[in-house]
Amino acid sequence: MAKFSSVSLSLLTALSLVRVGRSTCPVMQCWYTLEKGRGGGLATAANQVQSLLFIQTEEEKHDPESVKPAPDIDHVFFITDPSGSLCHRALDPPKGSIQKPHCELNHLQPQPSSLGWVAPLTDTDQSPLFLQAQWFAATIRGVDQEMSVTSVIRAPVESQHNVILSVTTQTVYVAARLGDPALLDCSYWVDPSSPLHGSGFSVEWRYQFRGSGHLVLGYDGKNDRLSDIREQGATLDFQSLHRDRNASLILSQTRVKQSGTYICSVHVPHLVAQVALELEIIEPPVVSIHPSQLPLIVPGQTLTFICDASGFIPLSLVFSWELTDSQGNVRLLGQGSVSSHKEGNDATYSQTSRLQLDSSQLEQGRGGKLSCVAEHPGGTRRASVSLNVIGFSSPSIEDSMALVGVALVLYGFIKFVSWTFTGSDDNEADEKKKN
Ligand SMILES: *[C@@H]1O[C@H](CO)[C@@H](O)[C@H](O)[C@H]1NC(C)=O
Repeated sequence: MAKFSSVSLSLLTALSLVRVGRSTCPVMQCWYTLEKGRGGGLATAANQVQSLLFIQTEEEKHDPESVKPAPDIDHVFFITDPSGSLCHRALDPPKGSIQKPHCELNHLQPQPSSLGWVAPLTDTDQSPLFLQAQWFAATIRGVDQEMSVTSVIRAPVESQHNVILSVTTQTVYVAARLGDPALLDCSYWVDPSSPLHGSGFSVEWRYQFRGSGHLVLGYDGKNDRLSDIREQGATLDFQSLHRDRNASLILSQTRVKQSGTYICSVHVPHLVAQVALELEIIEPPVVSIHPSQLPLIVPGQTLTFICDASGFIPLSLVFSWELTDSQGNVRLLGQGSVSSHKEGNDATYSQTSRLQLDSSQLEQGRGGKLSCVAEHPGGTRRASVSLNVIGFSSPSIEDSMALVGVALVLYGFIKFVSWTFTGSDDNEADEKKKN
């Protein structure tokens, strides 16, 4: 199908000017998956075509009369979103910006949920007439990981598209320190004029990591009931949920195994919308150096140091060794020989680096400092040990005193030896005389 060419881009610019008032609601390029039969089964590149979504609120509407059909864009949708969720600035980046929101529009078939704890929602089958329309789901990820939204759209007639249900997150990516609490934002909106409004809702949080997943928490808002299965330390702010439709997941104390994708789904009778967000647990290492204290070093000695970095996550660590002399000049000594990583009980990692240091590299007679630096996404950590090398280049007072002492001892020793030798010579002479 038609590709998005420069022709359509300039057309898009022209169309944007048609916006009524000072609305911030965007005109968005969106991949539209054609219905089965027209383009095939699954959503593949072959049956996805470019479309334009003209987002509008009830007050701020685009003028359909002034929108000329683009030569290479077959599908233009005017979508009315009374909540304004789709008018977020992350979905409308400034003109010319390279980053664009990612948008997909798919057909949707309303159906009762098959989840056990959501079933009560569809007990009373009161909205079949309302459901008789075309339904779409628009999933849009804004720029800079600022927000992501999924809207369920009802089209009773071809020219009318109304958002009925939206689920939004303002935290597409969350980074938390190990053991800290984390808040995964999710909120929803249901069109108050639809018959689905006020007929109950459910919230489901699921966790997904490398193909496997599990239920984190389920909440039946109609009966105020939590699912039996729920993860320890995971909860919702129920007051805020009922009052502000705030379905954010609260994790009281993050564990390493909680890194992954979280899906927030909000069900209303026959409809569901969901957003995905990413939680990453990041913990920098604790770094120590061995030996941490050294006796005086003699020139010509080879010293072995071990740098131990532990308790970090994710597995991404760069070691380096630095030698700082008494003047503060830093010399880089490379990364040392780095061990393979080990996994601890709490699923964090540990790793070591070994450094062989020839003491002739050290400045004799002056102090110095050897540091191990561990660079990690959670921060850079370092550990140091001070080095002192015996030397004669510029002796300190203590060294001088020691030297005087050594000199005295030497003097005494020489005296003693010479006396002993002189004595034995005398004896030898005496012996000779006797013979
Ligand atoms: C949603 O609830 C959480 C937990 O009480 C709170 O921290 C957060 O600020 C709320 N979000 C909004 C948008 O009100």
